[in-house]
Amino acid sequence: MKEKFPKTRAFVWTGKALKLLDQRLLPHKTVWRVCRTWQDVTRDIRDMVVRGAPAIGCTAAYGVVLAERKKMLPKAFEGLLKARPTAVNLRWALDRMRRVWEQGGNLEREAIAIEKEDREANRRMGQWGAELVGSNATLLTHCNTGSLATAGLGTAFGVLWTAFQQGKVKKVLATETRPYLQGARLTAWELKNERIPFELITDSMAAHFMKTESIDGVFVGADRIAANGDSANKIGTYSLAVLAAHHHIPFYIVAPMSTVDLSTPGGQDIPIEERSMDEVTTFRGQRLAPQGIKARHPAFDVTPAVLISAIITERGVARRPFVTSLHSAAARLSEAVPL
Ligand code: MRU
Repeated sequence: MKEKFPKTRAFVWTGKALKLLDQRLLPHKTVWRVCRTWQDVTRDIRDMVVRGAPAIGCTAAYGVVLAERKKMLPKAFEGLLKARPTAVNLRWALDRMRRVWEQGGNLEREAIAIEKEDREANRRMGQWGAELVGSNATLLTHCNTGSLATAGLGTAFGVLWTAFQQGKVKKVLATETRPYLQGARLTAWELKNERIPFELITDSMAAHFMKTESIDGVFVGADRIAANGDSANKIGTYSLAVLAAHHHIPFYIVAPMSTVDLSTPGGQDIPIEERSMDEVTTFRGQRLAPQGIKARHPAFDVTPAVLISAIITERGVARRPFVTSLHSAAARLSEAVPL
């Protein structure tokens, strides 16, 4: 297979500053923002300029580099950690940067290593996941898990992309992902750019298509995977897993080991970010619902391990019981993975 990876980048480290592609404005406007301080990075993670678990981890690492240059460590570790609560990649990257800082190591080199490793993990997950895809497949995905959400090919998107390069994908069904529309705005943009055949559907159409069309697999990412395999991902993922089980469709989580949090025993222990109800009642300033009502906006939900057919990491395909397979994946050196 000739490797021609997607050119989309969510962030670029220039050596002096961190440039972020403003994902709030996609797909209609391409605007790059320049972060020169760790506070800029914290604000842009919080405000969804950059989003997606691995991209949040990578950009926070560069935030630490900027903080060190202004002698703002260790304070910046605490500030960056508060930017978003659910994606554990943020804490994972900050812990890693803190260890290097405490040992007097080179923080810029470490942040670049985190980015490179994520890119390589994406490539490997793509290969492992594509092995699970048969010929002429119709695959369903949720939220945005591509180059905009990671340092490379993406997580679940990387599997779709790799399987497509291998000639196995008939089409992808991409959910719009209410209420923030990561699917309609970002995944549709990435699928279009990569010329992967796809159809955009609303979240509530998934059951209908699972019943009326032959869907061969659901591939989604994760923001935090607990030790028992329970997986937090974009709101709506849990319902897709229930629907997939009912229709006997395999349901796969695709995430790097930096998303696996063995210190969190189960899904009930994962903090779920509750975002502003304005994101439900309005869209880009346009009021959708009546004034003065209450709405709810949990940004993530937890899919119980029992509904997950397999968890694909850069170290291979983990199967149930995940408490065993995830621990052994964590203990294994990634170099030992035969690819
Ligand atoms: O709120 P977001 O857009 O940061 O949520 C993103 C997701 O839920 C993704 O599916 C997840 O981060 C995993 S894939 C990179």
